[in-house]
Amino acid sequence: MKVLIVSSEVVPFAKTGGLADVAGALPKALKAKGVDVRVVMPKHDCPNCKCEGEYLTHFGVEFDGRTETAVVLETSIDGKIPVYIIDNKNFFSRPGLYGESGKDYDDNALRFGFFSKAVLELCLNMDFIPDVLHINDWQSAMVAVYKKVFYEDKISSKVLLTIHNLQYQGVFDPLFLPRLGLGWDLFDMEKLEFYGKINFLKGAIVFSDAINTVSPTYAKEIQTPEFGYGLDGILKHLNYKLYGILNGIDYDVWNPKTDPLIWENYDVQTLEKKQINKKELAKYTNLPENRMFFGLVSRLVDQKGLDILIPAVKEMIKYTDACFVFLGSGQPEYEEEVAKLSKEFSDRVWAKIGYDNELAHKIYVGVDAFLVPSKFEPCGLTQMISMRYGTPPVVRNTGGLADTVVDPNEDRPEAPCGIKFDDYTAHACFAAMKRAYEIYTSSPSTWRDWMTAGMRKDFSFSSSAEEYIKLYKKISS
Ligand code: ADP
Ligand code: GLC
Repeated sequence: MKVLIVSSEVVPFAKTGGLADVAGALPKALKAKGVDVRVVMPKHDCPNCKCEGEYLTHFGVEFDGRTETAVVLETSIDGKIPVYIIDNKNFFSRPGLYGESGKDYDDNALRFGFFSKAVLELCLNMDFIPDVLHINDWQSAMVAVYKKVFYEDKISSKVLLTIHNLQYQGVFDPLFLPRLGLGWDLFDMEKLEFYGKINFLKGAIVFSDAINTVSPTYAKEIQTPEFGYGLDGILKHLNYKLYGILNGIDYDVWNPKTDPLIWENYDVQTLEKKQINKKELAKYTNLPENRMFFGLVSRLVDQKGLDILIPAVKEMIKYTDACFVFLGSGQPEYEEEVAKLSKEFSDRVWAKIGYDNELAHKIYVGVDAFLVPSKFEPCGLTQMISMRYGTPPVVRNTGGLADTVVDPNEDRPEAPCGIKFDDYTAHACFAAMKRAYEIYTSSPSTWRDWMTAGMRKDFSFSSSAEEYIKLYKKISS
């Protein structure tokens, strides 16, 4: 089985969110199961990116009425999985992956259209025709469209589209269509047309052989108007080829026993050592260590529930003595509100606005409970990471959060390992945090049971990889 994973971001080379984690971890799990898996991504030049490699090849790509050059560098994941990095200075030599200062680049249609076409040319150039081209989100969606239009007779691969987040679809002015080298016949409701614009993700939904999202619950949710962002109708129509496969996390990276970025390593047998990490985090943040700590590591965007969390935290400050540690960046209004909260209640709330991987590890391990109050969450990795570190999560009951966290009030065979709330309101979020606070303070043994239950769960990528292999086989046989 030969698979080419196409992603705009891949850990450890470039990351803005969970897509990169998955694109870095899934190949390792597939390789361990005998798949000939390779990865391809663009060469981003942003300050936090490390997209380096050895020169492999270069070729011309007919694009936007001219010949653009794709220079291909080769590196690897763990020395085992080939990673091809496609360089083109016009499109990728930028400070951001998708935009700057909260604004998308206005040529993203061309940037990722070029990337998608270059991926197909790369397959021909290297004579590597995979059984499955596994594309991810809108940034590589045009692989499915270009393949259908130009490469059907040259590239026999099947295409699997994974939707990591339906909110981001790659919607652009239809005038990009001719610049992408595509005909107006695609400007059709059953193809790329979407409310008068063109929609890259819709194109891939139509032209892929199968589609999956990153949790079974989200696969159902996206077929409804509440979660479908305008594509629920077509997803429902095509649901015969729609699957839900839960993500895992990279157990080499997220392991309390070996993590070099935390203060003190431990495992489920030496759980008391987790406390040393809390002590250090309390020192680092100047918060009183004898209180319950809640943590948040998140993009600060609408999806992540900041609008209900901020008022709920204020209530918690009023009614309990709990403390809060926040790390995140995103929409300026949420960044400001979080920063304001930490100034106003400096003895209770500590916040860093920004992206900081090392600090993220220290927060997962140093806090007592982890917050994920998302409005929607296709899978969510942070709740799985926190459980792996013995930090019970408080989450909204949606998407992958619904699938991975077990609340004691639920009728499920697995041991409880966190708290869930249903309504998307500040009050429900507050009530859930308060419930966590009460258990933590009044029943330490119950809380400890939740910590160990979370740590014992299997969130490794191994079982997800098996599901992916089944799906690859299904579409390519
Ligand atoms: P999403 O992809 O929607 O942002 P996920 O839960 O799937 O959400 O993945 C988020 C990933 O990004 C996790 O690995 C998390 O640790 C990381 N992350 C999010 N915000 C930050 C931040 N400000 N600093 C460091 N890591 C972050
Ligand atoms: C997206 C989703 C997140 C998911 C991640 C990886 O960024 O928002 O829920 O975990 O992709 O699939």
